[in-house]
Amino acid sequence: MIVDAYTRDRVAEELDAGLIGRSLHWHATLPSTNEEAMRLAAVGAAEGTVVIAEEQTAGRGRRGRGWTSPAGGVWLSVVLRPALPVGGLPLIGLAAAVAAARAIQSAAGLRAKVKWPNDVLVGGAKVAGILTEAGPAAAWTVLGIGLNANVPAALLPHATPYPVTSLLEQAGGPIDRGHLTVALLRELDHAYAVLRGNGRERVLAWWRECSDTLGRPVRVETMSRVVEGLAVDVDGDGALLLRTPRGIERIVAGDVTLSGAGRGARP
Ligand code: BTN
Repeated sequence: MIVDAYTRDRVAEELDAGLIGRSLHWHATLPSTNEEAMRLAAVGAAEGTVVIAEEQTAGRGRRGRGWTSPAGGVWLSVVLRPALPVGGLPLIGLAAAVAAARAIQSAAGLRAKVKWPNDVLVGGAKVAGILTEAGPAAAWTVLGIGLNANVPAALLPHATPYPVTSLLEQAGGPIDRGHLTVALLRELDHAYAVLRGNGRERVLAWWRECSDTLGRPVRVETMSRVVEGLAVDVDGDGALLLRTPRGIERIVAGDVTLSGAGRGARP
């Protein structure tokens, strides 16, 4: 087997794309694949267009944060034009987290879990993050996925409020990024098809199955407040439901940590 021959031709050939990946834009380096995919979406790029960069110099994370993206990772964005009600858009992120967890399992043989809303964990530490950004009037959405594949521990970000890892670190050796990317795009294609075909409940059931959040006491930091409670479920729009002393609280966006957990604790 060729280990980590990460090239456009290899991915395109092995993918035999459905909707996602039928147009593949490959760059050695970009500031951000999300930025480039948003530019392409705004000038009419077809749904399913994928932008991949071998490294990003200004990778974007959730809630205005940066995303460390050295060579060795899988950094990609997909142009979507979902005919979903606006309230359903967060489900794309949840579906993508499940797709990433499944791809990690099949391509790297590692058990991955999802942390609400759409972080992917291996060994209790974050290995992948997802950032969705919508265009004007939700005419398009860009789905960005960052996966710390063959990133050495020394190049992972350290000043994070949660533990971070890479597949290289977890597997004890390099994984084949071409194979991982193909698995990820295929899983995404499947999950997105199910979501568009009124399969919202199926996607939520998949998410619940690989959740690392449900059933645990958590602390959620939103833009305006901090809420602590027991994570009991996600609702039909992917919002997190917390049981608190005041009753059930519904959280639509925020960062989750275990209640009382400090730096280095397992999320
Ligand atoms: C998070 O904060 O967890 C989301 C991180 C998303 C990173 C990916 S890497 C590919 C795409 N391009 C970006 O600039 N960000 C996303």
